[in-house]
Amino acid sequence: MSYETVDTDVLVIGAGGAGSRAAIEAAKYNLNVTLLSKELLGKAHTCMAEGGYNAALANVDTADNWETHFKDTITGGAWINNQKLVEVLVKEATDRILDLEEYGAVFDRTPEGKIMQRPFGKQTYRRTCYASDRTGHELMATLTEEVRRQDITVLDEIFVTKLLTKDKIVVGATAVDMKTGDLIAFRANATVLASGGAGRIYKITTNAQQDTGDGIAAAYQAGASLVDMEMVQFHPTGMVYPEAHRGQLVTEAVRGEGGILRNNLGERFMQRYDPKLELAGRDVVARSIATEILEGKGTKHAGVHLDVSHLEPRIIEERLPSMLRQFLDVGVDIRKEPMEVAPTAHHFMGGVRINENAETDLKGLWAAGEVTGGVHGGNRLGGNALADTQVFGKRAGENAAKYASKESKPILDRKEIKKEFDRVQSFLKRKEGVRPSEIKNKLQSLMWDKVGIFRTGQQMKEAIQEIEQTKAKDISQLCVTGKGARFNKEWIAALEIENMITTAEMVAKAALTREESRGAHYRRDFPKTDNQNWFINIVIRQDKGKMTFEKAPVTVTSLKPGV
Ligand code: FUM
Repeated sequence: MSYETVDTDVLVIGAGGAGSRAAIEAAKYNLNVTLLSKELLGKAHTCMAEGGYNAALANVDTADNWETHFKDTITGGAWINNQKLVEVLVKEATDRILDLEEYGAVFDRTPEGKIMQRPFGKQTYRRTCYASDRTGHELMATLTEEVRRQDITVLDEIFVTKLLTKDKIVVGATAVDMKTGDLIAFRANATVLASGGAGRIYKITTNAQQDTGDGIAAAYQAGASLVDMEMVQFHPTGMVYPEAHRGQLVTEAVRGEGGILRNNLGERFMQRYDPKLELAGRDVVARSIATEILEGKGTKHAGVHLDVSHLEPRIIEERLPSMLRQFLDVGVDIRKEPMEVAPTAHHFMGGVRINENAETDLKGLWAAGEVTGGVHGGNRLGGNALADTQVFGKRAGENAAKYASKESKPILDRKEIKKEFDRVQSFLKRKEGVRPSEIKNKLQSLMWDKVGIFRTGQQMKEAIQEIEQTKAKDISQLCVTGKGARFNKEWIAALEIENMITTAEMVAKAALTREESRGAHYRRDFPKTDNQNWFINIVIRQDKGKMTFEKAPVTVTSLKPGV
């Protein structure tokens, strides 16, 4: 077997908001920076973030400040956020949005020319900065241009299969060039993981096809700690039909701009669930919608109505143009009629554990963005994800670069690389067995049905049993049709499956472990929040090939539950 070895000072895995920002920062240190993108640069899932970026700029509500943003984030996160990370997030989100402006981002403006801010769920003030309903797009277009302006080596369509370690220090990664099928070993002084979440382990999701938990699984396999994996956010409003659009995001900005939710009886049902109505926390709104549907008060496509037809058409056209187009494309004019929506898997609050410097527990490895856990606790505020990518992306890039400047090139373990590439290529050799799509579909339905918005111990035990069976049996029989390694999508799907299964196992087992309801984690068999026993984080690690779960104290700086 032959493979190429590529040397770099800083290796950044993932080219979404966090990875691009990390690379831009690292490039300031006059180092060789390599940015790996699973898709084409600029096409990352960050593009799909629509509604905005939270920063306490106080441009619209002048009383806003970082302290209020901090409190909103912790209470929104059901108290289990790492408060040190939250403090960094809310204090630095303001400067990082100004960096974006400096790179050329164009946000909507107040009449005085300041960045405009809109209300988003569970926030005290109008804090969410936006570029109509295509904020993620504006971010990615801007960051892509900035990456191109800097001396950064960008490699597109690279699939990372493993983090390489030497004496528990991360020294690079192995990867497949999807275009050619070539195998590459990256040797890096410092590595930044910014590979996003794993929404694709669910049948219905807002997430892009590439969000299969590759970085989460790679970090776990390398020995990093993961935290809060049971906390998966279901966005309240995804499209429900036509089938091809099922799960596609209907931005919270629709409710921020005044959208009203109604059931099939025409009731504004949120009045029965939360005084903040449509702008309650995402966990509450998602469960309320799901309850209405389960109680038979859903629409004909098993959703509820989300209505903006009472707004001036001009507001919809100016502030929600993508939503207008998205629904016009399927024959619904939202200026005149309601949308049909239902919850959809959206964001992993859990992920690789980091500290304020975006350092993981593994030397040589930093992480930022959705691949990490701890910032958002049990339930993320809409608009905090884009801020997270910029704040911790910058910190990861900066700290990785400082470390890389002092280190000399590590030595790679050839045996480890060969073993990994043997595994990678084994799927290409097997021509009979189970197709990746079969396992993928089964897993996605299983997670949606049994580890979804509402959970019970019994369902999760069943899910875990199936996941373990799949791991033990089906993976070893995975086969790939189609010739060769060049752009063989089924081969990549086979490689993704193992990551999806590892991630699903962590989610299901952590969810079974937490015997209470909190934030996005709602157990019908333990419907109450139990601060006495479960005001903790669940930390997952690999120990001698076994997945271990440990209760760890929440990092608190100033706010205690109930304060
Ligand atoms: O609803 C939205 O526009 C999504 C934003 C977010 O998840 O932060």
